[in-house]
Amino acid sequence: MNNKVRKAVIPCAGLGTRFLPATKAMAKEMLPIVDIPTLQYQIKEAVDAGIEEVILIISNNKEEIKKHFQRDIDYENYLYEKGKYEEAKLIKDISTMAKITYVVQEEQKGLGHAILCAKEAVGDEPFVVILGDDLIINENGKNVSSQMIDIYDKYHCSVIGCQNVEPSQVNKYGIMALKNKMENRIGYLLDMVEKPKLEDAPSTLACLGRYLLTSDIFAILENTKPGKGGEIQLTDAIKILAKDKDVIVYDFVGNRYDIGDKFGYVKAVIDFSLKRDDMKDKVLNHIKNVLSDNKD
Ligand code: UTP
Repeated sequence: MNNKVRKAVIPCAGLGTRFLPATKAMAKEMLPIVDIPTLQYQIKEAVDAGIEEVILIISNNKEEIKKHFQRDIDYENYLYEKGKYEEAKLIKDISTMAKITYVVQEEQKGLGHAILCAKEAVGDEPFVVILGDDLIINENGKNVSSQMIDIYDKYHCSVIGCQNVEPSQVNKYGIMALKNKMENRIGYLLDMVEKPKLEDAPSTLACLGRYLLTSDIFAILENTKPGKGGEIQLTDAIKILAKDKDVIVYDFVGNRYDIGDKFGYVKAVIDFSLKRDDMKDKVLNHIKNVLSDNKD
């Protein structure tokens, strides 16, 4: 078994029903944050964390993902001929940013099933899971995948990326019950409760879109029956894994945006544009105008 974390799985085959109609013919992972598709940020996160191969789980009818990351020499040549050298480089760089393997999830049977589809492509080694619609940015330090790989390299067990959410939000997430008190951002998983009422929530630590899993998860997923919503749930499999093996709950450092949620998406577009030199002043001015027009 290879013990180095070399592969990342990014599931992008969900139906994205919260973002219809935009996601009728387009994967929500391709929604752009200004001019860069969300998925391009996710792949960059993997590459920056030292990942050598990115496995994208895609659905049958969403070919635009492949098109975006494939080389398009005709388009590059067209841009060169028009003197648009920067743009030509921009689209060429996308096709060389990572080694990408595509796996088709024929039917949308849930996140757990999407991960199971990666079994052959991953093989017998640990891998990172980056949820295609959870954008996590840590401006002043290592990105979240890199933080999780550091934890794996130290403890050699599966790791779940979490953060504390507002108590009013626990009913939207998988919430962690720990065996012990968190120390240095780390605890050990006892149980996970999916979308609990506040009074039933064992903590406010929510699972937020990053996992580092050992290949043991595949055998468990193969035997995991459909759970909530008739879907094969990754959380159900992780709970079983935690019965036999250590599973670390890691409180990662970074700001998280839920791109699959309309408000989460709008927040990401505003925050990201305010960080760009070419956009900041214009967007800030616009926000000021909007605020003064909407004074009571
Ligand atoms: P979500 O539950 O957020 O995706 O799955 P969804 O089902 O597309 O969302 P809504 O509620 O209908 O809007 C988390 C991640 O898992 C992927 C999604 O693409 C997303 O990145 N996923 C989910 C799959 O790849 N396959 C599935 O069957 C389900």
